[in-house]
Amino acid sequence: MSDILVHTEAGVCTISFNRLSRKNSITSDMYAAMAEAMQAANTDAAIRVVVIQGDETIFSAGNDIGDFLEKPPSGEDAPVFRFLRNIAACPKPIIAAVNGPAVGIGTTLLFHCDLVYAGDNAAFSMPFVNLGLCPEAASSLLVPQMFGYHRAAEALLLGEAFFAEAALEVGLVNKILPPTETNAFAQAQARKLAAKPLSAVMATKRLMKGGQADAVAQRMAEEGQSFGRMLREPAAREAFTAFMEKRKPDFSKL
Ligand code: COA
Repeated sequence: MSDILVHTEAGVCTISFNRLSRKNSITSDMYAAMAEAMQAANTDAAIRVVVIQGDETIFSAGNDIGDFLEKPPSGEDAPVFRFLRNIAACPKPIIAAVNGPAVGIGTTLLFHCDLVYAGDNAAFSMPFVNLGLCPEAASSLLVPQMFGYHRAAEALLLGEAFFAEAALEVGLVNKILPPTETNAFAQAQARKLAAKPLSAVMATKRLMKGGQADAVAQRMAEEGQSFGRMLREPAAREAFTAFMEKRKPDFSKL
């Protein structure tokens, strides 16, 4: 079965991570499937709402680290960057249902969702610095805006995980649920949105987001350049190799 499942029913396109053996970490092929699903959502009149979900135990462990080592994304046409551009530009509402860990892009993609529902086991983290990397998905812009600078520094400089209650408090999450109910609740909210007049929903989203669409696109491009370069540098190579070898990274000479 595919590592990304895409299913559209009653106007709701659901994108599910389906790679539990690797904690739903995301490969280049998976980004390509997600980019394509988002593109369809952006243009297909039959799709009125998008839901992104994992299962009860894990949302996503972020980018596949083996992929980062062996075939790091190159150029702005890489599937990960296409996916990010498509999710940021989606004119229709996007709902995320997050249970368990949401690492790296598993958290940063949430800043491009309109509603986020979290299981009480949700754990968010953006450990880019710990991996010798910099933020992506315009998170260097959007996290300080939402969290305030100092909390953003905890999340992005220290790379510390934060949990469902803290995410609710800063406004990243709309509601906390038992993990067995998160995906179903997100679907119910999606059905509610799908029943509303799409033109009004889209106009409202455009007006709420419109003011900074250009700034987001520009920051994403800027981050993408640094991120692409840093992926190939010694700090990131050491972090990825250490993860694969199940040891602590040694940054003492970097
Ligand atoms: N890329 C590739 N493989 C990954 C992965 C990733 N991002 N995340 C987990 N895996 C693999 C593990 O290597 C392990 O493989 P193994 O069975 O061959 O040993 C398997 O998935 C299970 O992961 P494990 O770490 O044992 O699960 P856990 O429940 O103890 O921890 C996480 C879950 C998500 C907290 C932990 O796996 C993790 O921190 N992953 C890395 C996250 C990361 O740094 N992502 C990059 C962000 S830019």
